[in-house]
Amino acid sequence: MRALVRETALAAQHLVLPLFVHEGDVATPIASMPGCARLPLAGIVLRAREAFDLGVPAVALFPALPDARKTPRGEEAVNREGLLQRTVRALKHELPALVVITDVALDPYSSDGHDGLVVDGRIDNDATLPLLAAMAVAQAEAGADVVAPSDMMDGRVRAIRTALDAAGHTGVGICSYCVKYASAFYGPFRDALDSAPRAGDKKTYQMDPANVREALREVALDAQEGADWLMVKPGLPYLDVISAVRAATPLPVAAYHVSGEYAMLKAAAANGWLDYDRCLLESLLALRRAGADVIFTYGAIDAARLLTKQR
Ligand code: PBG
Repeated sequence: MRALVRETALAAQHLVLPLFVHEGDVATPIASMPGCARLPLAGIVLRAREAFDLGVPAVALFPALPDARKTPRGEEAVNREGLLQRTVRALKHELPALVVITDVALDPYSSDGHDGLVVDGRIDNDATLPLLAAMAVAQAEAGADVVAPSDMMDGRVRAIRTALDAAGHTGVGICSYCVKYASAFYGPFRDALDSAPRAGDKKTYQMDPANVREALREVALDAQEGADWLMVKPGLPYLDVISAVRAATPLPVAAYHVSGEYAMLKAAAANGWLDYDRCLLESLLALRRAGADVIFTYGAIDAARLLTKQR
């Protein structure tokens, strides 16, 4: 009877698994994200297949580069033979039906650790746009299905859409990290990529956690510029924002259950203080209830397995 009247559904089909790829040939665990590792290319394909076989339709890729490959302008981002591009090609070759989402932002490639270009100690929004557009085209050329700008520069959705169309990639979608807060919950992710800003913080481009009306302004701008999905990030601390965004747009809404949210569950479970499995499913269900169509979560494989078992 409870199933008949249940208002919200959570299934593997709603989940996206973020993965960290590196150049090494072994997996290196990420201390602050138990259960996650930087994987070599072959390991990414195995992990993606595991997720796909459990019904998770998509992965989101992040490259962890050695410092030697990082430069102020992040040129490695457009290298056709670069790690990310090779990984995308391998995934689309092995798993053609898997949705491959790539991240568009300078930080994994930038020696400054910022998502935008640093000029005289400041982020230069407009000078960053052509770099992001070129990065998105390089990812689309490698076979990405959806590019996901996570940089929060103003005007980048239009710049990316225009560049993709001009290069013939009219079918590649844009998942805009539209409402992304300057959050302390990204700490473990920055450990994973060694991508913390070398100076300053990200407050001049990411949003103030105090604001929700501003989120609706970001939604209107990104929708007008041609975004296909809109993301709110982090997830659980921002359920009210997800709900407001859901009400404000007909576009699909994604939520990112970020590294810090995942780390909290793992740490509490390791202490015997919380039941990881139940808290993970409850967290993801809450994100769906708030209005998220799509959820990016490091727990995608765990959740998919639990949901299969429940069925
Ligand atoms: C940066 C980016 C970040 C995340 C995704 N893309 C971190 C940041 O803005 O510093 C965070 C994801 C997570 O914490 O799980 N472009």
